[in-house]
Amino acid sequence: MDNVTGLTCVICDKTYPADYAGYVCTDHGNEGILDVRYDYFTIAGEWSKEILAANPDRTMWRYKPVMPIEPDAAVPPLAVGCTPMYDATPLAEALGIARVWVKDEGRQPTASLKDRASAMAVVKARQFGAEIITTASTGNAAAALSGMAASIGMRNVIFVPKTAPEAKIAQLLAYGSTVALVNGNYDSAFELCLLAAAEYSWYNRNTGYNPYMTEGKKTAGWEILEDLEWKAPDAIFVSVGDGSIIGGVHKAMKDAMALNWIKTMPRIFGIQSAGSDFMVQAFESGDEVLTKAPISADTVADSISADLPRDRIKAMRAVTETDGAYVRVSDDEILRAVPVLARGSGVFAEPAGAAAYAGLIKAVDTGLVSTTDEVVVLSTGSGLKDIASAMKAVAAVGTTPMNVDPTLDSLKEALGASQ
Ligand SMILES: Cc1ncc(COP(=O)(O)O)c(C=O)c1O
Ligand SMILES: [Zn+2]
Repeated sequence: MDNVTGLTCVICDKTYPADYAGYVCTDHGNEGILDVRYDYFTIAGEWSKEILAANPDRTMWRYKPVMPIEPDAAVPPLAVGCTPMYDATPLAEALGIARVWVKDEGRQPTASLKDRASAMAVVKARQFGAEIITTASTGNAAAALSGMAASIGMRNVIFVPKTAPEAKIAQLLAYGSTVALVNGNYDSAFELCLLAAAEYSWYNRNTGYNPYMTEGKKTAGWEILEDLEWKAPDAIFVSVGDGSIIGGVHKAMKDAMALNWIKTMPRIFGIQSAGSDFMVQAFESGDEVLTKAPISADTVADSISADLPRDRIKAMRAVTETDGAYVRVSDDEILRAVPVLARGSGVFAEPAGAAAYAGLIKAVDTGLVSTTDEVVVLSTGSGLKDIASAMKAVAAVGTTPMNVDPTLDSLKEALGASQ
């Protein structure tokens, strides 16, 4: 990999070689997450916006020059990435701001943004000669790994909380993963998975542990910039659990700035549920995220429920280095945002996806976003992932179906009553 110079610890800056087979800094253990460093000078000499524009590959792999893989590395066959981004005029008008784009990550092969990381994970697992790959997850990263592994016939072991939404568990079982439903929350599934991976020498895909996951997720940020023809938006709204997606979005922006492909850094906003607000607490209090004690998370948005965000150092930098903010929204606000987003853009999101939009509503209300701002909302997962919450969401805004007999009279009566 000529493009990678090494992997640097986010705590101590110690650098490891590009082919380092470990995951974290040896001096800092599980907290010592590594950041992949690139040789932007060499990349700039071999790659340009024009070369990228001429690339017919309509997947995340079109950004290989800024990814930690060999140019000829075999990638899984599922078409990950290049999801649509919609200019949602009704939402912009409702909020009274210049523009709202909604990027629909529900359109990924397993219906969440996590496909980007899991596709990267199986490429790295093969590079390191692993036969079995594992992850813990609130559900989406697991479903993504399960699907990617199925597509290349790689065995995999998945740890999810037994309370994960049924659709996500169904995906794991359909793809044929070995599934451990953990009698505990995501954080306990994570700890068990780390122990099991070490015990059995499985390749470890865990979020906020494996340094390459950020590099897969960042392709969403690259797509935002390419879609906007290298004019960065004013702000990007991202929901935050472990903080790996937001770190990835930030990484894409830093890559593009280093290559001089964009001139301004967008402000990045992290959105959390009031029931899972570790990062918001730290942002407000100024507490050091490395030493801040875990919280006890509980939210309807299962994908962003985390006692201790594993990628919290990168996640905090994404906001503080871009003059963004962490924003807290209630579960009720998240649920209400599901139909608002769906009706204003056509994008049906799971609660964690709609949370980003709930955060934008709050940011407009509190003056964090101004009327002239052009904003991207990353809708990270499909509404079909969690139908129980979707039904709660429509109930929250008072939407009910009509119950009719199969006769025109019955329909007329119902339509009359509903007016
Ligand atoms: C739909 C969705 N949104 C947001 C997130 C939060 O991502 P991260 O844990 O990287 O902050 C996740 C993570 O599982 C997710 O699945
Ligand atoms: Zn270190």
